[in-house]
Amino acid sequence: PVVVAGCQELVLNDGHIKQYMDAFLENVKRGLGKATNPSAIVKCFPTFVQDLPNGTETGKFLALDLGGSNFRVLLVELAGGESHMDSKIYVIPPSIMTGPGEDLFDFIAECLSDFAVTKGVNDQLLPLGFTFSFPLQQVGLTKGILERWTKGFNCAGVIGKDVVKLLEDALARRGDVKIDVCAVLNDTTGTLMSCAWKNRDCKIGLILGTGTNGCYLESQANAELFDEPDQGSGKVIINLESGAFGDDGALDFCRVEYDEIIDKRSINPGRQKHEKMISGMYLGDIVRLAALRFTKEGVMFGGKSSPLLETEDKFETRYVSEIESDLPGVYTNAKRICDELGLSHAIEQDYQNLKYICECVSKRAADLCSAMLAVLMNKMGEKKVVVGIDGTLYRNHPNISNWMKQKIAQLVNPGISFELMLSEDGSGRGAALVAAVAHRVKMENQ
Ligand code: BG6
Ligand code: GLC
Repeated sequence: PVVVAGCQELVLNDGHIKQYMDAFLENVKRGLGKATNPSAIVKCFPTFVQDLPNGTETGKFLALDLGGSNFRVLLVELAGGESHMDSKIYVIPPSIMTGPGEDLFDFIAECLSDFAVTKGVNDQLLPLGFTFSFPLQQVGLTKGILERWTKGFNCAGVIGKDVVKLLEDALARRGDVKIDVCAVLNDTTGTLMSCAWKNRDCKIGLILGTGTNGCYLESQANAELFDEPDQGSGKVIINLESGAFGDDGALDFCRVEYDEIIDKRSINPGRQKHEKMISGMYLGDIVRLAALRFTKEGVMFGGKSSPLLETEDKFETRYVSEIESDLPGVYTNAKRICDELGLSHAIEQDYQNLKYICECVSKRAADLCSAMLAVLMNKMGEKKVVVGIDGTLYRNHPNISNWMKQKIAQLVNPGISFELMLSEDGSGRGAALVAAVAHRVKMENQ
């Protein structure tokens, strides 16, 4: 493809990866340290989840899943190592995503009530796990203060407040459902727990979806901000909030002009710079900006763009997965997508160039995630680590998982073996498990 030279800036070499890994490790250490945390960029929030499931968890739970591409309410039943799940997706109107916080929580309460009535459980007092996939400074398992909004959300009056309390207040305003919030958790934690339930070696959770973030099982001794008594495992799950890595300029050495454009016009400029290079909310637009640049330079689409190619977010991230899924030399998806974007004047060479741009952008995302996971694995020093992963980008992309397997293998210390495990319903089953494990550990320690 003629765009190879122009795309070189998107390719991370060994030097870049080394610089990334050194900086990421330093950021994690800063986040974990009591004295250094206040100025840390990677916040390393202790989740108050101190143990993994052991398979004996049982019970019926409600769960809320807010912050991924779908808002869902779920009913989960755990018994004898099996789980049964029933769920409903509710569409959040865009006006609510950026409106007053009270409206958001009223909407959540309304959906919860509708679901409980539909499923005939509105007269039971069910425990609820609240998967709230934003940066929360947890004060307990059922208390979390929102540090900032990320992804497409920006509701007024929520930052600095306990989101569990806001949910309870909204439920009280309705007065028609009885809920006992047993846990508030991040989607990465839910993913880790859901995979650990099947495989005890799962000690890292990763989301590659609308946003991107990771969590891992850390020794309580290293988690200086976590003052709770050791409940036997000596561990605690840390929600890294790694999407913020680079917000102090630490990634400037590998960011390019497209990253800068995307950041500047986002809802949260200057923030979540790592996330903006990796996750599904932004990847398609990076490809669009690169394609637009090459069109303006006259090397793609005969120098002729289209109104849609010139419009923000019109090149969806699912196109990236679809274009890369075309068999070599066959451009079925690429052609269809170009037609959809008003680029029906594209010729085979354009499809080839477009596919190459997609590959560079998604390979860069995969390399950054691989480097992050390798840092965690090397830091943890366990012989065997399973990584639980969820998110639309990871699920739908044809190459990311294989690229990651190869890259991580090059970057981990000798003697470490690892496995990448696709998570099944982290926010439903995972939320129920967090609530159930907390209950079990409490009973054991009574
Ligand atoms: C889902 C999990 O499958 O993946 C959610 O259940 C999580 O909790 C989501 O937030 C992340 O992916 P996406 O693509 O929906 O943002
Ligand atoms: C964003 C959120 C984080 C979440 C991630 C994946 O980075 O801040 O909490 O885990 O998206 O959904």
